[in-house]
Amino acid sequence: MKKPVFAANFKMNLGPQETRSYLQTFLKEFPPAEDRTVIFFPPAISLVVAGFALRERPDIMLGIQNIHWEEKGAFTGENGAGMARDAGATVALVGHSERRHIFGEGDEITAKKCAAAFKAGLTVVLCVGEKIEERDRNTTQAVVLRQLKSGISRLTPAQVAQIAIAYEPVWAIGTGRTATPEDATAVHSAIRRSLRDVVSNRNTEIPILYGGSVSKANAESLLRAPEVDGLLVGGASLDPETWASIART
Ligand code: 13P
Repeated sequence: MKKPVFAANFKMNLGPQETRSYLQTFLKEFPPAEDRTVIFFPPAISLVVAGFALRERPDIMLGIQNIHWEEKGAFTGENGAGMARDAGATVALVGHSERRHIFGEGDEITAKKCAAAFKAGLTVVLCVGEKIEERDRNTTQAVVLRQLKSGISRLTPAQVAQIAIAYEPVWAIGTGRTATPEDATAVHSAIRRSLRDVVSNRNTEIPILYGGSVSKANAESLLRAPEVDGLLVGGASLDPETWASIART
């Protein structure tokens, strides 16, 4: 059986000092666990501090929330994938709904970022998810599968076999409204079928995470749902004790 993945996305919260004290508390609450994968996505500015705090915990992975698609150059304020790796990240979140809908990043940019991450040796967690009006029009699967197909369009099948997907319905992010385990299973199954077309029998290990108002109260029922291989958590990951308890689910 695949290990469940517990990924914490701090978004624009917890600078270096706060990240240091957060991780001190978290590590006390969360002893090494072989049967699960824990990933932290702190703000880029906190990556080095997080890497130092986690130096004795190789069981915990570190990722960057966003990268630019170019390696380096005149892109004020951006971070290249190679720099993220240098700072201790081994994973990149790509195509998060806040990147898509607040910063206007479309499918093409998302595809370029996925390719850039692999080029620098980072694994990708590709985020997909529909807006409420798309759900109301019954186009959830069409939207999600379009985002998925274009997101991986610049990757080889061997690279696709190494990614993780996060299904995060936009209407569930930060709203307190969670997809039901059945909703998540339906979309995850569609994602799984679509991945199978690309990577044939190599895709059985691709983790498909659910994100959107995950809490201590609903984590277990979501994780029990078929095809839900892990959780990507925003708000409920900001308190180290709450997050440790979710990550122990
Ligand atoms: P919330 O858990 O705050 O809804 O955020 C989900 C998310 O966007 C994680 O990437």
